[in-house]
Amino acid sequence: MAKIIVNGGCGYIGSHTTVALQNAGFEVVIFDNLSNSRLDTLDKISEITGIRPEFEQLDCTDKQAMQDAFSRHNDAIGVIHFAALKAVGESVEKPIMYYRNNILSLLNTLEMMEKFNIPNIVFSSSATVYGIPDELPVTEESPLRPATSPYGQTKIMAETIIRDTVTANPKIHAVLLRYFNPIGAHPSGKIGELPIGVPNNLMPYITQVAAGIRERLNIFGNDYDTPDGFCIRDYIDVNDLAEAHVAALNHMIKKDVTVEIYNLGTGHGLSVMELVKAFEAATGVKLPYAITARRPGDVPAIWACSDLANKQLGWYAKTPLEETMRNAWKWQKNVSGI
Ligand code: NAD
Ligand code: UD1
Repeated sequence: MAKIIVNGGCGYIGSHTTVALQNAGFEVVIFDNLSNSRLDTLDKISEITGIRPEFEQLDCTDKQAMQDAFSRHNDAIGVIHFAALKAVGESVEKPIMYYRNNILSLLNTLEMMEKFNIPNIVFSSSATVYGIPDELPVTEESPLRPATSPYGQTKIMAETIIRDTVTANPKIHAVLLRYFNPIGAHPSGKIGELPIGVPNNLMPYITQVAAGIRERLNIFGNDYDTPDGFCIRDYIDVNDLAEAHVAALNHMIKKDVTVEIYNLGTGHGLSVMELVKAFEAATGVKLPYAITARRPGDVPAIWACSDLANKQLGWYAKTPLEETMRNAWKWQKNVSGI
């Protein structure tokens, strides 16, 4: 069984990807410092797949700890690097913390891959690298824009660091995955997104309002230049997103990849109001909401062209939105004990 190191594998996307990897026959070892996740995610993963992933509790910014762990797992054929801090607002307040965590963890990972001859890396990038795009949908050729937050900057920098590393060391192969807006949870309701404190992102806010944890959803602006005036995003089911990592690894194993970049979205934009209505229709739960001011820094509209991932990776977003909504709600009900 091919072994994959999953940095940040206890987190939201990492846990779903671990499930997908195990189901596809990969052996997974997770490296995570649990700064934004919980140890019992390992139990939940093993309840879903019947396999408990190996676990190393470590901070990827700790070079010695990384070296020790990589030496124990030097038979791995690849790394998926999810480990990062991701709260955009917090990154503006604490830039050093974000640069240190997100950049150093990547540098250590690449250095250990070189040291232990581990050839493949899949990296979690983001649609944030496109800023406010001139043309929609965005393709991988669309220009990158300077990010408006240190978080976004770390994604642009990380892509550059990986490219330069691959150029200097052709034994390393990389796939950069630019995620659009991941939402939903595993159909079992056992794993999902665990926002700590007040959620910044739309979907966890919606499910918390539905659960009665928050009084109402604040919709940030209804005066955008879009058909209904609300912001538009490309919401991608987290299970579909997880499958893309398996597809990327299989692609790298078969083909001589240098650096490849893929947008991961559905190819369809949905407005905030459309998402709210889809949640209500799928769950039967009415969502109280209010229209408030625009959120500074918000992109009015963005959605992906994912044709390249469809063609090269044979990957498609296939989960119907209704199912994604039901899974998100099932997860929230489990977390809240409803
Ligand atoms: P998450 O916070 O749920 O998961 C990240 C995991 O990494 C957590 O388990 C955390 O404990 C761990 N981690 C963080 N820093 C670490 C370190 N220094 N050492 C070891 N472990 C560390 O986040 P997520 O939503 O699963 O995001 C995964 C990746 O995808 C991140 O790189 C994020 O920037 C990127 N991304 C996420 C989204 C999104 O909307 N969720 C969108 C685009 C890109
Ligand atoms: C945000 C980040 C982005 C990051 C992504 C994933 C910003 C400006 N962008 O993207 O860099 O990669 O999260 O972590 O923070 N909305 C509401 N009410 C809410 C929450 C959100 O109306 O309570 C709206 C927003 O205005 C937006 C949409 O819902 O139009 C989606 O918001 P969100 O889930 O935060 O994602 P992004 O802004 O796309």
